Amino acid sequence: MNKTALITGGARGIGRGIAECLAQEGWSLALCGSKPTSDENVQKSVAEIQSLATQPVRYYSCNISSTEARATLLDDVYRDFGQVSLLVNNAGVGARVRADLLDMSEENYDWLMKINLQGPFFLTQAVARRMIAQKNAGDEADFAVVNISSISSTVASVSRGEYCLSKAGVSMATRLWATRLAEFDIPVYEIRPGIIKTDMTTAVAEKYDRLIAEGLTLQRRWGVPQDIGRVVAMMARGDIRYSTGQVINVDGGMLIERL
Ligand code: NAI
Repeated sequence: MNKTALITGGARGIGRGIAECLAQEGWSLALCGSKPTSDENVQKSVAEIQSLATQPVRYYSCNISSTEARATLLDDVYRDFGQVSLLVNNAGVGARVRADLLDMSEENYDWLMKINLQGPFFLTQAVARRMIAQKNAGDEADFAVVNISSISSTVASVSRGEYCLSKAGVSMATRLWATRLAEFDIPVYEIRPGIIKTDMTTAVAEKYDRLIAEGLTLQRRWGVPQDIGRVVAMMARGDIRYSTGQVINVDGGMLIERL
């Protein structure tokens, strides 16, 4: 069976952790990211993921906030792989500037929303249309969608309000797509990572080192990309297929309320 996963932001950070876990489970991988295909780090990363894989791994340069770029991405991926069985909406950015809510600019808000919410939402729409068409044509493959949101879907951080808003939007997108795609037996899941060691958190590493040591997370360590990758692999295998719309926190128990 042809099992292809499209992982946005799949050559770095959490996306790469997901790619590695799926590569080891026999998936073909279409990875996309904002860097060009010629980028040295991208090429190294793709080669390393390929070394774990039994199936092809390809990288596509694509700005997911652009309608045209998303259309080209899907044309290329479907040409190369024939289908997308699993879409993982992982690519995302942090706030351009950590500024107080009272100072947030509309320009920075728009920029982030287009990447973190609008892009993944319409990518899901486009992939879902193709999944439904394949189902209607008699394809019996198991299709699924996974959204990578954040604990920021529910936790308010006033220095990066646009990020929180975008992730709350992603969480609603999970519920909307789970509802719309259920009749086609296409489950939609969500993972909410906590504090994960990647390039995105490098700038705030010292702050989180201290907070983790002080007990911010119940499990006193940073999360790593493979923590998320293993959960996506479980979803990709179909282990929780009767649980569409479910959210799994991968945050070391950070959001458990304590006295
Ligand atoms: P990262 O900065 O290491 O990687 C982000 C990836 O997204 C890169 O591959 C990049 O090329 C891609 N990307 C960014 N803008 C893009 C665009 N316009 N078009 C296409 N690709 C684009 O970040 P990290 O930490 O791996 O984050 C991955 C996801 O996990 C993001 O959605 C982030 O919000 C989320 N997350 C991360 C947490 C963390 O602590 N690192 C915590 C909670 C959620």
